[in-house]
Amino acid sequence: MTGPLLRIEGLTKRYRPPSPLPFLNGPPRTVLDAASFTLAPGEALGIVGGSGSGKSTLALCGVGLLRPDAGRVVFAGRDVTGERAPPGMQMVFQDPKASLDPRRRIAAIVGEPLRPAKGEREGLVAEALGEVGLDPAVGGRLPHELSGGQRQRVAIARALVARPRLVWLDEPVSALDVSVQAQVLALLWSLRERHGLAYILISHDLAVVARTTERLVVMEGGRIVEAGTTAEVLARPCHPYTQTLLDAVLPFDPKAAKARLERFRRDRPRGA
Ligand SMILES: Nc1ncnc2c1ncn2[C@@H]1O[C@H](COP(=O)(O)OP(=O)(O)OP(=O)(O)O)[C@@H](O)[C@H]1O
Ligand SMILES: [Mg+2]
Repeated sequence: MTGPLLRIEGLTKRYRPPSPLPFLNGPPRTVLDAASFTLAPGEALGIVGGSGSGKSTLALCGVGLLRPDAGRVVFAGRDVTGERAPPGMQMVFQDPKASLDPRRRIAAIVGEPLRPAKGEREGLVAEALGEVGLDPAVGGRLPHELSGGQRQRVAIARALVARPRLVWLDEPVSALDVSVQAQVLALLWSLRERHGLAYILISHDLAVVARTTERLVVMEGGRIVEAGTTAEVLARPCHPYTQTLLDAVLPFDPKAAKARLERFRRDRPRGA
């Protein structure tokens, strides 16, 4: 296939603020505003932005769990807008507790994306558990018998077991301790290199996206306000919001902050 693996075109989602009296409903609030980007096969894209900027809404519209009010999702050349988890696309949710069926054993949960007829099911599930650093013996347990970090790894194993072409990961490692974080991120990167897995990583942690993505999208107030290669965006942020994000994670250096501000004023695109 030539061309992009994923094309997000003008995705828009609005919510009406709740009101006890229907006729008092205010105007709908746009929480995702005409978001567009493309992703090549095997590419790693980061999405960063403050809380409430629309990152999860974008991912949920992208995998078809929310129907957008406008826009399209084209995956592998096919319009999949509103289609729940189309073949070849997987997602790891921000809250793994809510995404794992509490009554099913871990092995069954991880094996969900595999077709029932698949002969080596058990072996593939054990391999996927091993890849995220879990003992295959946890396959016999129920979700509530695991820690939060272990549940998150189960969700990641489930997303990767059927070797998708694209996985959306919404804050996948923030609940994990640092060594497991590094292990999971290294696994994603190696799957990208070995199997051409493309992934979209949503994270608050700029250090994480800096190490694990090639391109970066910055969101604020439901809009994509900046996009480019990760190295460029982090080295020369154009949008003031990206600078604020950077200033919040880098140790404060007044000289560097002043230089960044001056650079921004000098290079500011018209109208920004
Ligand atoms: N079901 C809903 N009904 C009404 N408003 C919603 C709903 N889901 C999300 N929102 C609102 O949409 C906006 C974007 O939410 P979203 O969860 O996409 O943000 P986010 O960038 O993922 O934030 P965080 O970093 O905290 O996870 C927020 O203002 C949120 O309150
Ligand atoms: Mg979110």
